[in-house]
Amino acid sequence: MIQLSEVHKSFTVKDRKTRLTKRIDAVRGISLEVRPGEIYGLLGPNGAGKSTTLRMIAGLMEPDTGTIHVCGHETRQRPEAVRGCLGYLSTDMGVYARFTPRELLRIFGEFQDVEPKVAERRGMHLLDKLQLADFADVRMEGFSSGQKQKVSIARALLHDPKVVIFDEPTTGLDVLTAKTVLDLLRIMREEGRTVIVSTHVMPMVEDICDRVGIIFDGKLHGDAPPRDLLQSRRAKNLDEVFFQLAAESEENH
Ligand SMILES: Nc1ncnc2c1ncn2[C@@H]1O[C@H](COP(=O)(O)OP(=O)(O)OP(=O)(O)O)[C@@H](O)[C@H]1O
Ligand SMILES: [Mg+2]
Repeated sequence: MIQLSEVHKSFTVKDRKTRLTKRIDAVRGISLEVRPGEIYGLLGPNGAGKSTTLRMIAGLMEPDTGTIHVCGHETRQRPEAVRGCLGYLSTDMGVYARFTPRELLRIFGEFQDVEPKVAERRGMHLLDKLQLADFADVRMEGFSSGQKQKVSIARALLHDPKVVIFDEPTTGLDVLTAKTVLDLLRIMREEGRTVIVSTHVMPMVEDICDRVGIIFDGKLHGDAPPRDLLQSRRAKNLDEVFFQLAAESEENH
């Protein structure tokens, strides 16, 4: 279970040329709930606040105000318990080029206190599912971006997390592998896991997400099953909803 209540996060950045600082209100009062057995899709334009929201859920960044609970633990009070129960895939996850996928997964298994044999079995099973088993013992320095993404996905799921947070999981993946990842997410839903995923791929959201929220100007819109959202906005597809929200946002500025 993931619960966000009135979460705010802002950043202060400095313009090197003008030397002026400005405040970016990345997340402005987001509340949402994702239940076990549910896939929640988080949408929004570039810079909308999706990754910031996911980072805060993963306990890697603290909200300024508001509270976040993951598996019943408050992220600020119990960051370690939170990290133990979730699998997080970020968009800027590096792989260690000197290692092979098998070696990397072994190390991460140790970090997560997974028994070595279990980590090995689960890791190889995941690499196999992601069609990367042939590269399990190849150093990752020459890996393509898609191959690295596959290793990062296996790493995020290695400890069998109850809560899965995937930031743009299919970016850089070919259609076959993207489908495999979506199938993996579906299986996780069937297994009763709690899944939240950010993406720019609208058909994917319409296809697999039980509920969808769109972040615009740091606020959450929608928060409804994709079909209900389309109906309430009289839109043919989610792209159209996106355009409507962009137009409304312009009007408000
Ligand atoms: N660590 C940080 N320091 C300063 N500003 C930040 C930081 N992290 C995020 N921001 C700013 O917060 C805003 C939201 O960024 P975020 O990465 O959450 O967007 P996003 O919705 O994930 O976008 P994208 O679709 O491009 O990945 C942006 O304006 C970004 O520049
Ligand atoms: Mg992002």
